[in-house]
Amino acid sequence: MNRRTFLINAAAATAIATRAKELQAGKRKKKTVGIVGCGRMGQYYADVYRLLPDTELVAIAEWNDDRRPVVGKRFGVSALYKDVNSMLREVVPDIVAVITPTKFMKEAVIASAEAGVKGISTDKPIAARLSDADAMVDACVKNNVVFAGGNLQRAMWQVQHAARRLDAGEFGTRTGAAMHGFGGEISGGGCQHISVLRLFADAEVEEVIAWASPEEALQGETDEGLNINGRFRMTSGLECQVYGLTHTHGDKKNRSGVDLWTDDAMISWSWGPPKIFQGTDANGNRKEIDPHYPPHPEPGVVKGAGLGDSHYLVTSILSLLDAVETGSKLWISGHDLRQALEVAIACKLSAQLGNQAVKLPLKDRSLSLHPRPYRWLGGDAIGQPQTAEEASEKKS
Ligand SMILES: NC(=O)c1ccc[n+]([C@@H]2O[C@H](COP(=O)([O-])OP(=O)(O)OC[C@H]3O[C@@H](n4cnc5c(N)ncnc54)[C@H](O)[C@@H]3O)[C@@H](O)[C@H]2O)c1
Repeated sequence: MNRRTFLINAAAATAIATRAKELQAGKRKKKTVGIVGCGRMGQYYADVYRLLPDTELVAIAEWNDDRRPVVGKRFGVSALYKDVNSMLREVVPDIVAVITPTKFMKEAVIASAEAGVKGISTDKPIAARLSDADAMVDACVKNNVVFAGGNLQRAMWQVQHAARRLDAGEFGTRTGAAMHGFGGEISGGGCQHISVLRLFADAEVEEVIAWASPEEALQGETDEGLNINGRFRMTSGLECQVYGLTHTHGDKKNRSGVDLWTDDAMISWSWGPPKIFQGTDANGNRKEIDPHYPPHPEPGVVKGAGLGDSHYLVTSILSLLDAVETGSKLWISGHDLRQALEVAIACKLSAQLGNQAVKLPLKDRSLSLHPRPYRWLGGDAIGQPQTAEEASEKKS
């Protein structure tokens, strides 16, 4: 471990120790939390908020009349409401987590921001229409509310750690990037890739040129099945090659993730803690090094909520709590989700215009890209409801 890594690890350890000390000394007041939309994903949030020492789950707004009492009983919450407005008329929690299907997120985020909630989070994708995402971000800025994103890998402890080391210059100057497996659902799932790329590059995407397949997906209204190959130019001047779900090296399926390389290193994220390569081995190949990631700050909550590898839900929530308490930077924000939607829309537009370069920010904010029906409308609306039995139990 070199001196810079040591200092970054020490800073992470100090932040955890400070939070623990402040909690013990009663310097951090418990924050009240309301969940809006307590289906499959919302139940994971409820579990985490219930287990964290500095939060208290006080209200749930859940549309489904059968599921509402079931989740109320499971999470020990008696203040139950059908929707966000009826909740806010009686309870204004410090934090509101909006985990409805995407179509209903805008109303809940704006109503919560206007009611005086201090911190709001939503999940992915944030919206279909760019102007709706703008309205959510703007309402939070106007009302001085912290607006966080949700369960995204950008908020993974190790992803953030690797980014901090890149920012500190440990690996030298950033020289290039590649995004792999950008297809299937470029807005719904692809916002994971774009959010990590922007973090590692420490820059925004300013120009997109894209080719799309298959043709039917390009003509459709949703992102379902759309595969993108192309190139992004970042505001820092960095170029990022973009590969769809498959690219031809024979029939080999490519991986999914983001690589960012510098003069002598490469940080490689592929749906888990990033690998770090530095220097070369005896054969001249890139050499993987021990990344020395510090331990997760709340392993007990990860275990208690049955999150396994999805431990980044906990760190995304901790980052929101810290941002509300101290004004620190969010690890995943509503702004990040809006930018991801915008890049996905720009990719589709570039492909539709015969692979023309499209500049960002997009001028036409009425442009939209719908996620697949499950994400847009939820399981109940598309005939995949979660049963009462499933909602009443902890997931394995
Ligand atoms: N980040 C991730 O890894 C991840 C994973 C899965 C889902 N998601 C996202 O989370 C969101 C929810 O997905 P899910 O799997 O929990 O869906 P789900 O259908 O299981 O749950 C949605 C819940 O919201 C409730 N609801 C719908 N409209 C409402 C409203 N207006 N007010 C209050 N409650 C309302 C429904 O009754 C349902 O219980 C989607 O946007 C999805 O894309 C993210």
